[in-house]
Amino acid sequence: MRLCMIGTGYVGLVSGVCFADLGNQVVCVDKDKSKIDKLNSGTSPIYEPGLDELIKKNFTAKRLLFTSNINNAISNSDIIFICVGTPTKKGSIKVDLSFVYKCTKEILKYSKRKKIIVTKSTVPVGTGDEIEKILKKKKKLFTVISNPEFLREGEAIRDFRYPDRIVIGSNEKKAFNIMRKLYAPLINKGSKFFTTSRRGAELIKYASNAFLATKITFINELANLCEKSGVNIEDVSLGMGSDNRIGGRFLRAGPAYGGSCFPKDTKGLVSAADRYKINLSVVKSVIKSNHERVNLLTQRIHKILGPNIKNKKISFLGVTFKPNTDDMRDSSSLKMIPYLCKKGAKVNYYDPSGEKNEFRNIKNCNYKNSIKSNCNDADLVVLLTEWDEFKSLDFKKIVNNSKFKVYDLRNLYSAEEMKKNKINYHSVGRPNIN
Ligand SMILES: NC(=O)c1ccc[n+]([C@@H]2O[C@H](COP(=O)([O-])OP(=O)(O)OC[C@H]3O[C@@H](n4cnc5c(N)ncnc54)[C@H](O)[C@@H]3O)[C@@H](O)[C@H]2O)c1
Repeated sequence: MRLCMIGTGYVGLVSGVCFADLGNQVVCVDKDKSKIDKLNSGTSPIYEPGLDELIKKNFTAKRLLFTSNINNAISNSDIIFICVGTPTKKGSIKVDLSFVYKCTKEILKYSKRKKIIVTKSTVPVGTGDEIEKILKKKKKLFTVISNPEFLREGEAIRDFRYPDRIVIGSNEKKAFNIMRKLYAPLINKGSKFFTTSRRGAELIKYASNAFLATKITFINELANLCEKSGVNIEDVSLGMGSDNRIGGRFLRAGPAYGGSCFPKDTKGLVSAADRYKINLSVVKSVIKSNHERVNLLTQRIHKILGPNIKNKKISFLGVTFKPNTDDMRDSSSLKMIPYLCKKGAKVNYYDPSGEKNEFRNIKNCNYKNSIKSNCNDADLVVLLTEWDEFKSLDFKKIVNNSKFKVYDLRNLYSAEEMKKNKINYHSVGRPNIN
């Protein structure tokens, strides 16, 4: 099938490349010409394990094209996937759908024959109806479907190839058959193909993300209780998560949830519910609690270092919201590092995905290109992101300062081992044994 992916970000690029790898003819279009130039020169504009190789393979096989010419991309395709961003509107909890509507207008303008339009972007319930309204001048040409994407950055290729479920929402039965054919190679390997109404599919995506965010927030709050009551949060997670009705995933205490989805989708769901005068009080509490968690952990960093943090050296290991991605959107580091620098601390950071523009203009904040140069003279090492290369460090070998402390926000190390090695070690939701 001839597919067009509008938006070549984490979702559009990965799904476009993977659809090409399944044998489809795919054109990926983006308004950001620098992304397209990079892709045409053979490099991925995003950090995603395995993606470079797949791009090269399918580009060479001429199944994959990159362009900023949206007219050609739309004209030559049968199925058009909308994969543009749906961020939160500035100063509001509402979803900014301007990118979605802008590319819908372009689809209207450049379509001269029948097209299936699929929203992969996460959009509030009812957005498909709005898209149809924009397309009404040529309504006979279009079938509008919702196919929310559930892939996770860092695991995106695997998630595309082996999704737990493929959700297709449409008000027209024939659309299900076309989408079933497109996804047949994945369905044949065992992925569930789930069909529902278009509005149903739109809501499933928000409900899933809000529920996962709730699990994280719940365990993070319990971690606070564990710290005060002398219980180990890992025992609680295991004990709870072993119940099949609950499940163990997303029950690991740590920093506030971040990334490009949970923060904006929890807000987007509340805002969509507000439109229907429905009060989603649980999700509202989750948003509030997650916001407080960033502040709480920032204050803990401050407390571990003592009342005066001026000129104290803090070394962050990892600044992305999770490992195996370069995505900084809503990472806790974006609030923690500027605050600590403002208080006079000297912050170094190292992240395997490289230097971050977000910290370039912050006084007292420096990027280091190795773990050792980052931590060498640290008073405090803050382990924020669980990249593999941070999982078995010999802190005494990488930090020269004899009085250094470690704050492990991912509980990667054993508190007992650290105590044995006489390292002043702090973690999350575990009894303090220092
Ligand atoms: N990132 C994830 O892990 C993830 C997972 C599931 C769902 N989603 C959802 O998928 C959508 C896209 O997310 P993303 O992370 O890939 O976003 P992104 O910001 O990485 O990419 C969006 C791309 O769309 C391009 N774009 C915007 N308007 C355009 C237009 N009119 N024409 C052509 N290109 C245009 C932008 O230049 C950008 O490259 C969002 O709704 C998001 O919530 C994201």
